[in-house]
Amino acid sequence: MDGKPAAVDRYGVMGYPVSHSRSPVIHRLFALQTGENLQYELLQVAPSKLETAIRQFQRTGGKGLNITLPHKSEVTRLVDDLSERANSSGAVNTLVFRDKEIFGDNTDGIGLMRDLVGNLGLELKDASILILGAGGATRGIIGPLLDAEPKSITIANRTLSRARVLAEHFSASGPVTACRFREVKPSSSFDLIINATSASAKGELPPYPESAVTDRTFCYDLSYGLSPTPFSSWAARKGAARSVMGWGMLVEQAAESFDLWRGVRPDTQKVLEQLEISA
Ligand code: ATR
Repeated sequence: MDGKPAAVDRYGVMGYPVSHSRSPVIHRLFALQTGENLQYELLQVAPSKLETAIRQFQRTGGKGLNITLPHKSEVTRLVDDLSERANSSGAVNTLVFRDKEIFGDNTDGIGLMRDLVGNLGLELKDASILILGAGGATRGIIGPLLDAEPKSITIANRTLSRARVLAEHFSASGPVTACRFREVKPSSSFDLIINATSASAKGELPPYPESAVTDRTFCYDLSYGLSPTPFSSWAARKGAARSVMGWGMLVEQAAESFDLWRGVRPDTQKVLEQLEISA
C-alpha cells in the first residue's frame, strides 16, 4: 500500500445536445447504492468530433461510455467488437473499454423488456403489439419484443417505406407487418401500443390511430417527461387501460450498462423512487 487514494474509474454519456440527460443522476444513485467508486460525466460532443472524443476518453483512463442521440448508429463503425443485440438493432448505447479494444453493446431493448415484463407485469406471449414510428428506436426494440413470442407486431409510420424496410428486415424472425397510421384497421385493437416516434420528445401529436386503443390496451411512450407527454395524455384520453412513460426503460437500460461495466446489478425500483417520477 502506498497510501495513495485509488484512482476513480471514469464513465460518461456522450451526446449532442446532452445537457438534458438524466444518466449522470441515475448512475450516481447506482454508485451510491452499490458502493462502487466511480465518476460519471456529461460529455457534449458534436458528430464531427465523435471518434476523436471517444479515443481521447479511452486514452485518459475512461472505462466506459453511454452513447445517446444522435451518435447511436455512427458508433457501430468505431468499435472493435459488437454484441449480437447491438448488431441487430444497428445501434450502440454502451461502450466498454477493454485494454485497447472497444466493445459496443445495446441495452435499450432489454431495458424496455425489463420494464414491460418485470416492473409492469405485462404478458407479451400471444399479444397484439402496435409500434408507432419506424426509426432507430423502433429498430432497437423489435428483436427483443419478438423474442417474447407475440401474436403480431404491426409497425405504423407516417412514412410507409421506412416501416416496410423494418418489417422486411425482421419478418424472418416473426410476424411483423407495416402500414401507415391511417391504415391501422378501425376494428383492430391492441394489447400494447408503443410510441417509438420522436414526436412526443418534440412536443408534437401526430394523427395516431384512435381506433387502436380500447380499455384493455396498455400504452407505453418511449419518451418521458416530468409532466405527461403528448402521446401519454392522448392515450389516457382515448381510454387506454394504462398509459405509461418510459422512465422505467431509462433506468433499466442504465442498470444493464452499469452491470456490464461493474459486474453489479443495482436495485432499479429504489432509484425510480429516488427520481420521484411516476413511472
Ligand atoms: P429515432 O432514432 O428516435 O427513432 P428517427 O430515426 O429520426 O429517430 O425516427 C423518428 C421517427 O419518429 C420516425 O418514425 C418518424 O416518422 P417518419 O419516418 O415519417 O419521419 C417519426 N416522427 C417524428 N416526428 C413525427 C411527427 N410529427 N409525426 C409523425 N411521425 C413522426
